[in-house]
Amino acid sequence: MAKRTIVSMPGDGIGKVVLPESIRVLEAAGFKADYMHADIGWEFWIKEGNALPDRTIDLLAQHKVGLFGAITSKPKDKAASELSPELRDKGFVYYSPIVGLRQRFNLDICIRPCISFPGNPLNFIRRTHGNQYEEPPVNVVIFRQNTEGLYGGVEWTNPPDQVYEALSTHPKFANFKDCPREDLAVSTRIFTRKACRRIARAAFEYAKKFGYKSVTICEKPNVIRETSGMMTLETRAIGKDYPGIDVWETNIDAQMMWLTKNPEDYGVIVAGNMFGDIVSDGFAGLVGGLGFACSANIGDEVAVFEPTHGSAPKYENLDPSIVNPIAMILSACMMLDHIGETDKSKRIRDAIAAVIAEGKVQAYDMLKLKGGPDVIKQGAATTQQMTDAVIDKL
Ligand code: NAI
Ligand code: MG
Repeated sequence: MAKRTIVSMPGDGIGKVVLPESIRVLEAAGFKADYMHADIGWEFWIKEGNALPDRTIDLLAQHKVGLFGAITSKPKDKAASELSPELRDKGFVYYSPIVGLRQRFNLDICIRPCISFPGNPLNFIRRTHGNQYEEPPVNVVIFRQNTEGLYGGVEWTNPPDQVYEALSTHPKFANFKDCPREDLAVSTRIFTRKACRRIARAAFEYAKKFGYKSVTICEKPNVIRETSGMMTLETRAIGKDYPGIDVWETNIDAQMMWLTKNPEDYGVIVAGNMFGDIVSDGFAGLVGGLGFACSANIGDEVAVFEPTHGSAPKYENLDPSIVNPIAMILSACMMLDHIGETDKSKRIRDAIAAVIAEGKVQAYDMLKLKGGPDVIKQGAATTQQMTDAVIDKL
């Protein structure tokens, strides 16, 4: 088979640490590819006024599949003050490059599996009768609409005349009429029927392919009637094409409570951008948190795979590194699944499961230590040792 080219975007901070570790595992599993490095992140904001250079976009457009580490984003004033002096006051505005990638390539399907590995000391446990504990197995896959809704970026403080006038035509806007316009901030939540249908369809197809019994629509249609309403109606309608799969509906707030009461009841979950982000972090917390949370951003042509954690700046300069590479390695497994290399992804996941079950090599997060250079003395594995342990099991 022809060798694949994978676009490698380590980004900032620990992204630069964990991404090469995932490539070591891919290579050890026998996955043959060329990795093209692509620039992305804070360094390029400072030097070029653009955290997502066009050359990176071109590489992805050409090769279609990318691995992404993490980026650093900072507030407006910080971003402006760190820009190279010669670029200042020239109208450069910072945008998160990962949000930019999702929008540029319409990576509208975000998949976030939250699946517990037996033996992970970070797994959620629940108290039962007689002061006993039990560890419910969690196997939930969140489908988050990735490009619209509250993260769509259509927002204003002190909205311009036309926007203000349009808002004034809504009867409920009467409640805001007394507020001075400069004290008014508006973030829109725009959903399109097409995107609702795409995320719902992707969720059901996944449930069918991997044998999940239910798809839960997690929104809030009783209050956010138009957008959550559209997502709910469209998902229900698509559900009719999948007679073997139950369609459940939960409100995001109630779901956040239930996920610690009965997480084992849920299978595939589908949600808009904001609620998908929230509910996926909630479930990720039950299966080990940021060191384990992987994700895929999938569009019609391009797909980018990334851990959900950020650049963890406080650990970026630790040598040896202590962060857990598993979230990144699991993201690389999702990439293998996407391109049909499912035997290799299975082998890697089995190797991770074996390392966790054995419990001999554990990163600091798994030992519940406070991160820092001392954790190695306290028995934590380094990032490289974690990767080596996975490779040994391969
Ligand atoms: P973060 O995810 O970078 O780190 C939060 C904390 O989680 C860390 O301090 C560490 O204790 C733990 N952690 C993260 N990754 C870990 C790993 N692999 N193993 C073990 N522990 C891990 O989030 P934070 O500190 O809020 O943000 C730092 C920077 O990252 C910010 O600039 C933020 O904008 C950016 N960020 C980027 C994301 C992305 O690239 N997709 C996502 C989230 C944040
Ligand atoms: Mg998040």
